[in-house]
Amino acid sequence: MAKRILLTGGAGYIGSHTYLALVEAGYDVVIFDSFANARRDVPDRLAQVTGKPVTVIEGDVRSRQALDQVFGDRSFDAVVHFAALKAVGESVERPLDYFDVNLGGLTTLLKAMDAAGCRRLVFSSSACVYGIPDETPTPETAEYRAMNPYGQTKIVGEQVLTALTAANPDWAAGILRYFNPAGAHRSALIGEDPRDIPNNLMPYIARVALGELDRISVFGDDYDTPDGTGVRDYIHVEDLARGHVLSLDRLLDAGDSHVVNLGTGRGHSVLEMIEAYKRASNRDLPYTITDRRPGDVPVYVARADKAAQVLGFTTEKTLEDMCSSSWAWITSDAARRED
Ligand code: NAD
Ligand code: WQD
Repeated sequence: MAKRILLTGGAGYIGSHTYLALVEAGYDVVIFDSFANARRDVPDRLAQVTGKPVTVIEGDVRSRQALDQVFGDRSFDAVVHFAALKAVGESVERPLDYFDVNLGGLTTLLKAMDAAGCRRLVFSSSACVYGIPDETPTPETAEYRAMNPYGQTKIVGEQVLTALTAANPDWAAGILRYFNPAGAHRSALIGEDPRDIPNNLMPYIARVALGELDRISVFGDDYDTPDGTGVRDYIHVEDLARGHVLSLDRLLDAGDSHVVNLGTGRGHSVLEMIEAYKRASNRDLPYTITDRRPGDVPVYVARADKAAQVLGFTTEKTLEDMCSSSWAWITSDAARRED
């Protein structure tokens, strides 16, 4: 029988792509999401892609009652926990909300899982746990450095899971540190929500290409990088989604906990991203060099060998794929449809 997986935050950007990858891999998947940061039509679009009905439960991961009901109604083999708040700047302004959702939500979920006897969890962590790392490409052994409350919630979240798996051999966790997710699903039915003014580079560039924003601000060109602009390890969201399938396979087959980077191992500068998107969209992309963004990291690039060894994970998609799929998605009918 197909293994059943609960996806918290499964209607969000990475969660929705992971839903599709898991269904493709033969898992039976249930989404649990509050829709705090997801569009209501995501489940319909997921159903359109898979040709199968989508099971969605609306609820908040901070509600033990809601979670007990979920685990009481069905049994699950594992949970992939995406549900969290993720805007770095907002976390500085509203730290309590970030601790509440990202840590309160995690511990509430873990307790509900433990009570139900479901003790396999994949956790969405982030390269931001490295702060400004001493070494790039950055290995998983680099020390924790918190730069903001959001990063703190990911560090403590990891520590909670490490303590739990150490205390109880029945528990196993896959901690996945994502680098910079980019791009959209090949169907152009699923992608990053384009409505709000984006903080992140790729969705911002996409909006400039669409003509909805005037120009890109390049945050500093005086970093110690080849062209002076910030360098990041952009990973196609479909590759990232596949990483979750491999992590779950490992947890369910061998019960082995792991902490791995999910990146490509290659970095691209802001100016390279603009050039790549220009080619994919065939649009002019005006930009201005501005001051550095406070708290920005010069270079984030993953050491990708541990994911290859432990999970057999390597990326397949290129930067061109990220830009062309983003452009196909943002110019599609699905991206324009209102809730
Ligand atoms: P997203 O906002 O698109 O998805 C998060 C989902 O969680 C949304 O569907 C939202 O409605 C839901 N959610 C939020 N609060 C909830 C709550 N209290 N209860 C239930 N559901 C709730 O974000 P994403 O980019 O898909 O990120 C998914 C995970 O990956 C997050 O944990 C994020 O911190 C982590 N992450 C994201 C990035 C990135 O750049 N996108 C990088 C590293 C790590
Ligand atoms: C990428 C590069 C910017 C916007 C953030 C979070 C991190 C993670 C991913 C969740 C940098 C430059 C950006 C713009 C620019 N999220 N830039 N003009 O900073 O790597 O990471 O998202 O875990 O925690 O901090 O991503 O896309 O914001 O920036 O020049 O308008 O683009 O300076 O060099 P970042 P980003």
